[in-house]
Amino acid sequence: MSDAADRETTNSPDPVTQLVSLERRDDGVAVITLSNGKVNALSVELLDQLRVIAAELSEHTPRAVVVTGGPKLFAAGADISQFTQSGADDSFAIAAPERVGEIGAAFLGALNAVAAIPCPTIAAVSGVALGGGCELALACDFRVAGASSRFGQPEILLGIIPGGGGTQRLARLVGVARAKDLVFSGRTVAADEALAIGLVDRVVEPDEVFDAAVAWASTFAAGPRHALALAKAAIDEGLEQTLEEGLRTEQRRFVQSFTTPDAAVGVRSFLAEGPGKAVFD
Ligand code: COA
Repeated sequence: MSDAADRETTNSPDPVTQLVSLERRDDGVAVITLSNGKVNALSVELLDQLRVIAAELSEHTPRAVVVTGGPKLFAAGADISQFTQSGADDSFAIAAPERVGEIGAAFLGALNAVAAIPCPTIAAVSGVALGGGCELALACDFRVAGASSRFGQPEILLGIIPGGGGTQRLARLVGVARAKDLVFSGRTVAADEALAIGLVDRVVEPDEVFDAAVAWASTFAAGPRHALALAKAAIDEGLEQTLEEGLRTEQRRFVQSFTTPDAAVGVRSFLAEGPGKAVFD
């Protein structure tokens, strides 16, 4: 081996464990898969990889996205082993505020990046979505759950509070009192209750979760991509504004929608063939 090749081998960094993978399917649906140990614990490393993949999907946007933790379990939340200081001995010490700040920033960065993907996103929740796992599902536009899936924000049972949007996105989705019930009690809700309170959108047989999410995503993949992105932007931006500001945001996005190829295709098709027949690029 040459000196240069030898240096390359001996100095190459440790390979990064792939904790999040991205598959771009031919039908335009991209699939993000979490893969971290027994329970897909959301470590800082996993969240950093998720942020990078979500940013890539904002840059080169597919028609729709499905987020999955695999057939057994979506995610059991933050990696609790990262909540302590690793010392030389076995004595316990809770993580220092700086470290907790890093964990919080990793959640904020990753989940905001997922929420910002400018196409429809669906969480396919098998098993549990707890803590940060529930918060990741909340960062998607929709949630498909298996009949035996469970959701919750159990942080209070650890003496802490949610740090990945659980006090914010959850309250906006299911209402203030229901969010306080879940966050104050830390209780988990079964799929049927999650459906009843609007925390999930569809409940299917446990072994059909992924296929159902992909099938739903495929319907968006055949839709008007520009109009879908503008509709998502208008709703999400408006949620952070007063009604008056939100209505102005909608007007801006409405006018913008007429400048995309989707409007020409959709309106021409309606006038020529009637409603619902447009085939979008
Ligand atoms: N972070 C790190 N490790 C976790 C974890 C988490 N959030 N949740 C579970 N684990 C680990 C357990 O310590 C256990 O590790 P071990 O096999 O090395 O002992 C392993 O995952 C399996 O967990 P276990 O509780 O034995 O499995 P289970 O099938 O009975 O229950 C859960 C699975 C996910 C329902 C349960 O572990 C749980 O409630 N986890 C915590 C959820 C939570 O509080 N999340 C909020 C974090 S802020």
